[in-house]
Amino acid sequence: MLTNPSSDKAHILIAQGVNLDLLGTREPEIYGSDTLATIEAMVRQASPDIARLFGWSAPELCFFQSNHESLFLEKLSEGWSGALINPGAWTHTSLALADRLAALRLPFVEVHLSNLSRRESFRQHSYASPHALGVCYGFGATSYLSALTGLYAYLAKTLQSKGL
Ligand code: DQA
Repeated sequence: MLTNPSSDKAHILIAQGVNLDLLGTREPEIYGSDTLATIEAMVRQASPDIARLFGWSAPELCFFQSNHESLFLEKLSEGWSGALINPGAWTHTSLALADRLAALRLPFVEVHLSNLSRRESFRQHSYASPHALGVCYGFGATSYLSALTGLYAYLAKTLQSKGL
C-alpha cells in the first residue's frame, strides 16, 4: 500500500528507536545536543522545500519514538508511503526488524546521527540496511535532512507515476 487509506496524500513516518528519547543529554560528544523535538522542528520546516525540489507537494509527517520493540515494529506496518528509520541499537541486534522490513517492502531510508564507520565493530553491521533505499549517517541531526532528500526523490518519482 503506497498511501495511508484515510487520505490520498502521502504519509511519511519518521521512526526513532530505543534510547533516542534521550537525545540532547545522551553522550552529546557523539550524538550532538539536538533533541527529538528540535529534530522534528527542523525536518518539518525543511520538508516543503525538499519536496518542491522534486516538483512534489509536501506529504504529511508523523514522528514516533519507542523503547518497546514490539510497538516500534507494529508502527512500521501502518500503511506508510515511506519512512525515515533510526532504529538505534536495534539496528545491530534485531533480526525481527530485518524480517519485518523484508516483509513490508516499505520504502525507507536508514538514518543515524553518528558516523558508524568510526565507531565500535559491533556497530558496523546493520540488520536494516539490506532493505533500505539508502543509508545516511554521520551528520548529526542533519543526517535526517539528507535522508529526507533521498526519500522524497524516490517517492516523487514512484508516486507521481501513479498519479498520487
Ligand atoms: C544511532 C547509532 C546506534 O549504534 C546507537 O545504538 C544509537 C544511535 C545513531 O543515531 O547514531 O542508539 O542509531
